Amino acid sequence: MTSLNEIRSTFLDYFARNGHEVVASSPLVPRNDPTLMFANSGMVQFKNLFTGLETRDYRRATTSQKCVRAGGKHNDLDNVGYTARHHTFFEMLGNFSFGDYFKEEAIPFAWELITDAFGIPKDRLYVTVYHTDDEAAEIWKKVGVPEDRIIRIATSDNFWQMGPTGPCGPCTEIFYDHGDHIWGGPPGSPEEDGDRFIEIWNIVFMQNEQFEDGSMKALDMQSIDTGMGLERIGALLQGSHDNYDTDTMKALIEASAHATGVDPFGDKNVHHRVIADHLRSTSFLMADGVMPSNEGRGYVLRRIMRRAMRHAHLLGAKDPVMHRLVPALVQQMGQAYPELGQAQALIEETLNLEETRFKATLDRGLKLLDEELSDLPEEAPLPGATAFKLYDTYGFPLDLTQDALREKGRSVDTDGFDAAMAEQKAKARAAWSGSGEAADSAIWFDVSEAHGATDFLGYDTELAEGQVVAIVQDGALTDELASGAEGWMVVNQTPFYAESGGQVGDRGSYLKPDGNGAVLDTQKMAGGVFAHKIKPEKASLKVGDALELRVDHTRRSAIRANHSATHLLHEALRHALGDHVAQRGSLNAEDRLRFDFSHTKALSLEEIKQVEQEVNAYIRQNAAVETRIMTPDDARAIGAQALFGEKYGDEVRVVSMGTQSGSGKGQGGDTYSIELCGGTHVRQTGDIGVFVTLGDSASSAGVRRIEALTGEAAFAYLSGQDHRLAETALALKAQAADVPDRVKALLDERKSLQNEVAQLRRELAMAGGGSGPASEAESVAGMSFTAQVVSGVTGKDLPPLIDAAKEKMGSGVALFIADAGNKAAVAVGVTSDLTDKVNAVDVVQAAVEALGGKGGGGRPDMAQGGAASAENAEAAIAAARAVLEN
Ligand code: ALA
Repeated sequence: MTSLNEIRSTFLDYFARNGHEVVASSPLVPRNDPTLMFANSGMVQFKNLFTGLETRDYRRATTSQKCVRAGGKHNDLDNVGYTARHHTFFEMLGNFSFGDYFKEEAIPFAWELITDAFGIPKDRLYVTVYHTDDEAAEIWKKVGVPEDRIIRIATSDNFWQMGPTGPCGPCTEIFYDHGDHIWGGPPGSPEEDGDRFIEIWNIVFMQNEQFEDGSMKALDMQSIDTGMGLERIGALLQGSHDNYDTDTMKALIEASAHATGVDPFGDKNVHHRVIADHLRSTSFLMADGVMPSNEGRGYVLRRIMRRAMRHAHLLGAKDPVMHRLVPALVQQMGQAYPELGQAQALIEETLNLEETRFKATLDRGLKLLDEELSDLPEEAPLPGATAFKLYDTYGFPLDLTQDALREKGRSVDTDGFDAAMAEQKAKARAAWSGSGEAADSAIWFDVSEAHGATDFLGYDTELAEGQVVAIVQDGALTDELASGAEGWMVVNQTPFYAESGGQVGDRGSYLKPDGNGAVLDTQKMAGGVFAHKIKPEKASLKVGDALELRVDHTRRSAIRANHSATHLLHEALRHALGDHVAQRGSLNAEDRLRFDFSHTKALSLEEIKQVEQEVNAYIRQNAAVETRIMTPDDARAIGAQALFGEKYGDEVRVVSMGTQSGSGKGQGGDTYSIELCGGTHVRQTGDIGVFVTLGDSASSAGVRRIEALTGEAAFAYLSGQDHRLAETALALKAQAADVPDRVKALLDERKSLQNEVAQLRRELAMAGGGSGPASEAESVAGMSFTAQVVSGVTGKDLPPLIDAAKEKMGSGVALFIADAGNKAAVAVGVTSDLTDKVNAVDVVQAAVEALGGKGGGGRPDMAQGGAASAENAEAAIAAARAVLEN
């Protein structure tokens, strides 16, 4: 027996020997086709090579492509388990020529491989060709297929199209006759739908391109695209017509039997088949970055998972089963697809969580279903309202309910289901109180209802294709936005992050064949719609355009670094200051980060140093940043930091990074930082580079704010500081390391010099060296009066001057005005023999008022006051003199 792994290698090796580049499977989420939910054939990743839009350094390629058919146009979900050949996940083997060889070589290649390398007997094989394709029929004759086994088919069965538009062409298919013990007829016969004659290989002669207006044009080059289902050829080579009899599928079915304790091949076989198939699609989808959700691809994933979980339930499983089967899958397929092993922990954990959660409502939902059915007349469809309740309250995807009813030979009133869904949406809309203008939010609701929520691809990629589904200009929907105008566009899927959770919206650009444009901002609107603020250049933008969307990588990288550093900062602050530290707000922009948190005091230099050191230590740890989806309760149980007062849905994204030893932190073990977060992050903490704070300040009562830099910005800041330090050292004629000591010594020196100057000034003033209009004593109203303006001293220097002047005069009144430049002080002294004639307080108040100040006070023999300036000193002296004269 030949295993699927061996068949895969035989195929790839055969074409590698014949000059083909062995190309890895592209991810299940197509990066280059906005209209496709999942990769569903080998040619998807080569689409643009056939039309000549793209060229690579090879013109022959071979792949084993991961395919999922469980959403969108090709949806096989409903049949899986019940038939021999339906899968949600399968591998398509293919060889491709991009304008290199054509029919003359493609047909002999295929014939040689299956009859020689695979050793399939020629007398079991039939081929079909498109009815007008004489050329292909001739080549088949040449390789040795008898004329009566070359069947001409006029229908679309032999004209292959990837979709409503795109490359296409006539095809030829190879069929295998499993023998007359199985019912069925050759292709084109009335019995063709039976299982006897099975198509095993489709070879497409890519020579046309189909356009939206219905026209079809010949392509410049003639190419080859082929597809052979690995499971089908495997079944055949392993002597069966049933794909589930292949070694890989059997191993998974046996794993399911082992985990549930139920006979793998008895009457419960269908459940094992469903589980085996769904295990593959769900695991591969998660390995390619799809996570269960209630929208888009994530919802398709969840539907598949839940369908499998119901079948596990039907096998009587009490505990979650799916996650226990992952090791068997990794063992079977991990070598060919290393991504599976890399994501194993994530896959197991997610399956376990999903199954634990779904089990909580599955029993009750099934009970409700049974009760409803027993009240219904036989054969009546299940009312749509009931199916909707199962969906809305018990988490039953519609197809799960349909699957459950299928066993009972009943159906669902899907119109009623759609009506109930529409009613719920209308209610949500009425209850919506969005920010921004009401008219605008109504528009976003329309967009969301017509086109669904935007599928965000930006956790895994910064480059993806999207199709324009709506354009809004000046608050109104429009079909076209002129070049140079500004407006908002919505695409079905996008790598652009929309502003939320403190992280700014992405910027970048878009490209289309006839033009391009700038994406200036991205915002989240009602109903999960991402709106891109755009400005088309060169050509206008139209609804329906397919665009290549490019996030500004440099800017996004800086934002990622800042966001991840914010998480580290949060944890470091809790370590340095205590567990009361909780996030109160944050900003993650491209040039800096800002983090507001509850704490009452300013941080000390020591605390800031400790925080900076800790964050940088975890950056150097270069730990992987991990994201998982959980329930809010589970997230809290592992110690995730959640935002106080924030409402979370029934599932949250949890971002963890860093490992610390001996933390004793709940189930999260020794993980350093665990936060609920929807933002984009670095892959490894080392990508942050370096972290430096710009200091802390008060944000509001009880809330501190730290601003900080990372990466290039942090480096520029630190090296700028370094350069300034070097310049300072040069000016001080010191080594950079000695600068702090030198500056301190200079400050000390400056202080003692200032003291010395003040002392000298006082002495100078006392020696009568002050300046001013009346530095010599004069006689006023029979009293000796001396007035001086002293600059460079302050009010507290004046009393000793007053005392000295009084002593010198023996009897008299002394006035000093201290001029400190930006303020002035006044002091008046009256010798004790004169205090019954003159009150110092009166004199001071008059002088202060003349200076433009107010007040002043003291004792009759000594009073002081102040003013903003000593500019009117002369008037002040005159005013003092006038008081004496009165
Ligand atoms: N692209 C062709 C198919 O999917 C080969 O059948």
